Amino acid sequence: MSLIDLPAWQALQHHFDVAGKQFNLKTAFSNDSARFEKFCYSLENDGNSPEIVFDFSKNLVSQETLDLLVELARATGLEELRHDMIAGKNVNNTEQRAVSHVALRDVEHADESTRATLNHMRLFSEQVRNGVWAGYTGKSIETVVNIGIGGSDLGPLMVCEALAPYGDSGLTLHFVSNIDGTHIAEALKRSDPETTLFIIASKSFTTVETMQNANTALQWFLRSAKESRYVEQHFVAVSTNSAAVEKFGISLNNIFPFSNSVGGRYSVWGPIGLIICVYIGYDNFIKFLQGGHRMDQHFQQTPLRNNIPVLGGLIRVWYTNFFGAAAHVVSPFDQYLAEFPAYLQQLSMESNGKRIRRDHQPVTYATAPVIFGEPGTNAQHSYFQLLHQGTGLIPADLILPVKSHNPVGNNMHHKMLAANFIAQSEALMIGKSADFHHKPGADEESLEAKALQELAVHESCPGNRPSTSILVEQITPGTLGSLIAYYEHVTFTEGIVWNVNSFDNFGVELGKTLAERLFAEINGEEAGPNDHDQSTNGLLDIFKRISDRP
Ligand code: F6P
Repeated sequence: MSLIDLPAWQALQHHFDVAGKQFNLKTAFSNDSARFEKFCYSLENDGNSPEIVFDFSKNLVSQETLDLLVELARATGLEELRHDMIAGKNVNNTEQRAVSHVALRDVEHADESTRATLNHMRLFSEQVRNGVWAGYTGKSIETVVNIGIGGSDLGPLMVCEALAPYGDSGLTLHFVSNIDGTHIAEALKRSDPETTLFIIASKSFTTVETMQNANTALQWFLRSAKESRYVEQHFVAVSTNSAAVEKFGISLNNIFPFSNSVGGRYSVWGPIGLIICVYIGYDNFIKFLQGGHRMDQHFQQTPLRNNIPVLGGLIRVWYTNFFGAAAHVVSPFDQYLAEFPAYLQQLSMESNGKRIRRDHQPVTYATAPVIFGEPGTNAQHSYFQLLHQGTGLIPADLILPVKSHNPVGNNMHHKMLAANFIAQSEALMIGKSADFHHKPGADEESLEAKALQELAVHESCPGNRPSTSILVEQITPGTLGSLIAYYEHVTFTEGIVWNVNSFDNFGVELGKTLAERLFAEINGEEAGPNDHDQSTNGLLDIFKRISDRP
């Protein structure tokens, strides 16, 4: 049965028609003095990680809405599939695989191979950090370059930036992902072959961008080191494909393997996180895993109606499918979390940007919204205009650490940041009516009443725009782990309701295949019968003509 034919869906549709679409946040708050308490949830301090608060009260939902959404989750099998994922069943049904990223975070119950890899990560990261791991001239490592793309880049990059206060300040990190030669060229310009370590991170070890960048790095290194016996002091690999790694020239001792059942965008918790482990140290890396595990336990054990990521995911379904919201903004009010929205883009859009259901039939409803975001307050000075006055509904997640790692200016910066964070969710909700008298500015004193009234219309904001505020006591390895796991389970919840497989990503393959053939044509290896469409042939010809110019 299709999702929209389920009685639980139809009950929600009816609820939307009679109540949901007219739901008014200001009225909801004035009718219920306990609304905040009722819709605000906490992940308590567990001794390892400080508290995280999720305030869902400024969303266009009543208790009845949440009850009905939970009914829908139940009807779509969320409880069973949550159990199956944790139990290691093949929930990735198109690739016939289990998904094991959650197991990676359960350090206490890790299996033998996970333990061995963790041990290898510990030894390696300690040696690099304490200077025992020496380069080919005996000098310690000063620069670490992670070469990878997608999930083999975005997670490590985001986490290293987010946890910079815990990082080893003696190490310079570079993340090279793009096939654009500028990316590797700029990293190499800032690196010394004697003191640089390359981590080649690729689950498949076949990704064109990563292989090309890795080869360029290897040639650059060998131009200085001359002898290939030195490669093992400067190149390590993280991959499931040991044969390809060895073929590349990296010794077996320098391979950090992991299982195929860990998806690329879910892989930051394993050896793909090696650069994180080197940068923040093994103990902090374990705290990061434990933070993720804390959210997993909550997700596994808490009844759906009080389950924080389940509610987060269901609220997104409510906006996507009933309000027609095509986008969702995540704005962290923390400069260290600048890369978090980019990370979430892959997590959500590669997981749920699907149009075929798990049972191989086409979907007849919207799936993943576009995720975007930038840190606040910068975002307020760019796209927030559209959130406040645009024609569409764009729900927002706003994230703030209560305690800053940099309480500069007597913590004034942070208090101002916090004021803006709270002001945005308030402004989105309360809006601004046009029924006020526009206060003339100095250069507007000559304006007539009519002109002033016209300006008031432009200044008005409709309000009633939803947001979830997430307050984290402080961004630590533990709280960051919990936050990422929260979004993973939000994504899982949505995927189950939409009945799509959140763990494959076939959609990215076509572009890769076409690029291979176009490369052969651009590179003159294949004459090419010019049998593309007109535009593609035209672009190809223009590129060749201009690039052949002296
Ligand atoms: O092309 C998409 C993708 O497969 C992502 O899912 C993955 O994170 C990325 O490419 C990198 O893949 P790999 O780690 O195999 O190089």
